[in-house]
Amino acid sequence: MRARRSSRTAEFMALFRALESVRRPASARLFDDPFAPAFLGPSLRAVVAVSRLPVVGRIVPLYIDRRWPGARSSGIARTRLIDDLLGEALRDGVEQVVILGAGFDCRAYRIAGVERCRVFEVDHPATQAVKTARLGRLLGGLPAHVVFVPLDFGQQAIDRALNASGFDRSARAFYIWEGVTNYLTEAAVDATLRYFATAVSGSRLLFTYVHRGLLDGSAAFEGTEELVATLRRADEPWTFGIDPATLPAFLAARGLALAADMGAADYRARYLGRAMSGYEFYRAAVAEVPGRT
Ligand SMILES: C[S@@+](CC[C@H](N)C(=O)[O-])C[C@H]1O[C@@H](n2cnc3c(N)ncnc32)[C@H](O)[C@@H]1O
Repeated sequence: MRARRSSRTAEFMALFRALESVRRPASARLFDDPFAPAFLGPSLRAVVAVSRLPVVGRIVPLYIDRRWPGARSSGIARTRLIDDLLGEALRDGVEQVVILGAGFDCRAYRIAGVERCRVFEVDHPATQAVKTARLGRLLGGLPAHVVFVPLDFGQQAIDRALNASGFDRSARAFYIWEGVTNYLTEAAVDATLRYFATAVSGSRLLFTYVHRGLLDGSAAFEGTEELVATLRRADEPWTFGIDPATLPAFLAARGLALAADMGAADYRARYLGRAMSGYEFYRAAVAEVPGRT
C-alpha cells in the first residue's frame, strides 16, 4: 500500500459490511455494522444509498458479484465467522484482543462484551489516522478500552510496539489478522507468526491467507482478472500466499499448531447456505500456541 494514503482495500471491506448492514430483510443479515459507512468516500457511500432503494437496489450486490466473483459473499461470511470466533473467545474469558491490520474493522465497538477487554488495534499509520479521526467524530472521542498501535509490518517489530502500548504478555489474547497477510512480504508474515508463537499458551490467532497458486500460477481459479486489475489500481497488489497443503508444516516450523483451516466455499456455505462461487482461494485459519511442558 502507499505509505501516505489509507488503505483502499480496507475501504472495500467497509463497503461490503455497510451493504450487508442495510440488506433486507434485516433478519437475513449476517451482522450489523453501523460504523462501516463512516469509512466510505462519497462514491462508495452513494453505492450504499442506491442499494437501499426498493427493487433497483438489488442490482448493487448482483453487479459487484458479477464483476468481482465471490469477493463480497466471502467477505461478509468471513466477517460473521470471525465475529463468532471472537464471541467464543470472550465467553471463554479472554481479556485481551489484538486486531492486526485492523483497517476499518469495528468489532471493538460493535461486538457485545468486547468493551470488558483491552483491544489493541494495530495498523499502518496512514490507515489508522483516518480511522481514529472518523471514529472520534462518530463516537465523540475514542473509547478507553481500545489502544491504537501504529505499525508498518514491513518496517517495525511488533513485539516492541505492543509491549510499549501496555499489552500484557502474561495474559491470554485472541488475535485477528484478517485480510492482511496477502499484502505483506514473507519476512513480515514470518516475524509476526514467530511473535505470536511466544504468546501465553491458549492464545489463538485467526488469520486469513490466499492460496499461493493464485500468485505463482500453479493453481487456476475462475474470475480473478478484474480482481487483479482492481488491486493494481489500488496500489495494493497481493504479494504473499501459502499452499494450504503445506500450512500445518508452515505453522509447525514457527512453533504453532493449526486448529482450523477453511476455504471461502466452507465458510460461505456455513453462513449463506447458497451455491455461490468465486474467491475459493481466500482462506481463514486458526493457529494456536501449544501448551508448553
Ligand atoms: C484489506 S485491508 C483489511 C482490513 C481489515 N482487517 C478488514 O478485514 O476489514 C488490509 C489492511 O492491511 C493493512 N496493511 C497493509 N500493509 C500493511 C503494512 N505493511 N503494515 C501495516 N498494515 C498494513 C492496511 O492498512 C489495511 O488496514
